[in-house]
Amino acid sequence: MRKIVINSGKPLSGEVAVSGAKNSVVALIPAIILADDIVTLDGVPAISDVDSLVDIMEVMGAKVKRQGETLEIDPRGVENKPMPYGKINSLRASYYFYGSLLGRFGEAVVGLPGGCDLGPRPIDLHLKAFEAMGAKITYEGDNMRLSTGGTPVQGTHIFFDTVTVGATINTMLAAAKAEGRTVIENAAREPEIIDVATLLNNMGAHIRGAGTDIITIEGVKSLHGTRHQVIPDRIEAGSYIAMAAAVGEGIKITNVLYEHLESFIAKLDEMGVRMTIEEDAIFVEKQEQLKAVNIKTAPYPGFATDLQQPLTPLLLTAHGRASIVDTIYEKRVNHVPEMARMGANISTVGGRIVYEGPNQLTGAPVKATDLRAGAALVTAGLMAEGQTEITNIEFILRGYSNIIEKLTALGADIRIVED
Ligand code: EPZ
Repeated sequence: MRKIVINSGKPLSGEVAVSGAKNSVVALIPAIILADDIVTLDGVPAISDVDSLVDIMEVMGAKVKRQGETLEIDPRGVENKPMPYGKINSLRASYYFYGSLLGRFGEAVVGLPGGCDLGPRPIDLHLKAFEAMGAKITYEGDNMRLSTGGTPVQGTHIFFDTVTVGATINTMLAAAKAEGRTVIENAAREPEIIDVATLLNNMGAHIRGAGTDIITIEGVKSLHGTRHQVIPDRIEAGSYIAMAAAVGEGIKITNVLYEHLESFIAKLDEMGVRMTIEEDAIFVEKQEQLKAVNIKTAPYPGFATDLQQPLTPLLLTAHGRASIVDTIYEKRVNHVPEMARMGANISTVGGRIVYEGPNQLTGAPVKATDLRAGAALVTAGLMAEGQTEITNIEFILRGYSNIIEKLTALGADIRIVED
């Protein structure tokens, strides 16, 4: 089993470039099934979720050429056949194949999605949308079959009583080539949704309102090829900004869209973090005394649930006592006992995480319990005295491209070893 070993104490400075957004590209790749010609994606991150999705696309019959951060996908050979179960189970975002296969074939047979352990990850709202568009749902072993029974997918008017990124995107995918108009109300507003709508519109779709809470999709007969640049990963950016403030001595994070991080930056301002916002970069100085602050996550443009864990190590360096409440995933607390093992004064009380600082962490063997918890442990390891070993690193490699190379370039003593 592989683990990450970190020896702290090295000064970290220099520049780190943010890669393309994981939560966008995991939808963009399945969306290409809807095209009747080649689609090329630029700025694709080197993460294992992309590897898994490329494998699935090839099993389905697509032709994929990968050149660095560019993916050229020819979906014309894609057949409608059951998805490869193992790969499906490895990542939650495999559910985007439901929407794109339904949108292209009027039918999809897929395994039920896997993903991080953040508590229950239901897909009831995805299924509610598909049923509203004429799909019948049947279960065959570990597979689920969605089928309109040969009739075209119908446009519908759907209101999501919970703001959901996945179901909003999946509905757009199924609706792009449906008969008639689809209106999504109380839609999620994340930047990744705009990125998917941009790709689909550049393929010939008619989607309006992405990024607002009402999205309208006029179904079209066919979608052609295009070329698309993946937006920068705001969660990777926030993870490196928090790391830079916690242990850096002057670090510039580049390829950052500041407007995707406004609520996160506002919290850092509240803590007293000194940084300079540039056109598409943020320079983070070495920090002095910071103030502990309360965090409450919310759907975009609120504070991202994906950033509460990567921010935690920085919070632990601040003076005072405060709390973190994740209103999206209340069980997103598995990093807390791992931080406590490193000597942090942090615990989960009821539905909230309570911490008090400042803390001097001590290196220890810890385990990544999910993707963003893993990122938090890497920063904690860079801050702690002594050596930290992190296991279950596959979680981290799912969403942080070239993290070892990026941190080594900043001066960190970090490596992956076989246990
Ligand atoms: C996306 O997950 C992201 N994943 C998550 O990032 C992110 O944390 C989440 O959005 C919230 O912003 C990808 O984009 C691949 P949701 P998703 O549907 O779409 C409930 C990471 O670290 N819900 O917005 O699965 C759900 O339980 C990952 O990169 C239903 O009840 O999240 C949650 O409480 C982790 N029924 C809330 O809605 C449904 O059918 C928001 O979930 C769907 C969701």
